[in-house]
Amino acid sequence: MRILFLGDVVGRTGRDVVTSGLPGLVSDWALDLVVVNGENAAGGFGITEAIYADIRAAGADAVTLGNHAFDQREALVFIERTDALVRPCNYPAGTPGRGAALVDTRNGGRALVVNVMGRTFMDPLDDPFAALDRALDGVELGRVADAIVVDFHAETTSEKQAFGHYCDGRVSLVVGTHTHVPTADYRILSGGTAYMTDAGMCGSYDGVIGMDKEEPLRRFTRKIGAGRFEPAAGPAALCGVAVETDPATGLARHVAAVRLGGGLSEARPSFWEG
Ligand SMILES: [Fe+2]
Ligand SMILES: [Fe+2]
Repeated sequence: MRILFLGDVVGRTGRDVVTSGLPGLVSDWALDLVVVNGENAAGGFGITEAIYADIRAAGADAVTLGNHAFDQREALVFIERTDALVRPCNYPAGTPGRGAALVDTRNGGRALVVNVMGRTFMDPLDDPFAALDRALDGVELGRVADAIVVDFHAETTSEKQAFGHYCDGRVSLVVGTHTHVPTADYRILSGGTAYMTDAGMCGSYDGVIGMDKEEPLRRFTRKIGAGRFEPAAGPAALCGVAVETDPATGLARHVAAVRLGGGLSEARPSFWEG
């Protein structure tokens, strides 16, 4: 199965690069499953129902979230109407929506998409490791699900690496989100799970993690904020990770970074481009 995961979509520039670029990638690379993190899609904070629909229409089979999941209050309501909008599974019991979704793939299979949040320098949520075990309970890779994608939304590289090893051999891909900067450590772990500490964001890199640089600079240098965070303008990059799985096991056969446009050095999955 051919899987593309795209990191946090930030604001209109991020949405535009996804809606304009993703449909072509779905056909050029014959993608079977696309997962997009949409936690910053609405002006940098949260997601609306209309934006969710646009990202789905561009080719995403599931949209994951994170600490900004419910910044747009309407998400608390419309998430219940969707079948493929996934918020962190370790939120408290009673939180609207779901932390994992079983979705149909383009090649006639089924994939489980899980969103989990780390706790180091993050909100004190339930244990992400135990939450992952619950999400995978009864959904064995290669039997019940042809692929399992875990979006681990966390701040520290150490917690992300530990989580990758914790999932190794049980899922197709563990990919980090939240820090908005693509890392170079994409690889297949010893148990067969593809891993990348951070997918990077879909947005403008001429800013501070996707936000216009002026206000963050003001807060760092003067310690007094004078405005709101606004998404950075400028040409956006489309960033993520590409994985090809073994159809028999659901584990990874190939993994590559994807970085297209926005002034970043370009990266493409050579195994799909011949
Ligand atoms: Fe984010
Ligand atoms: Fe985040």
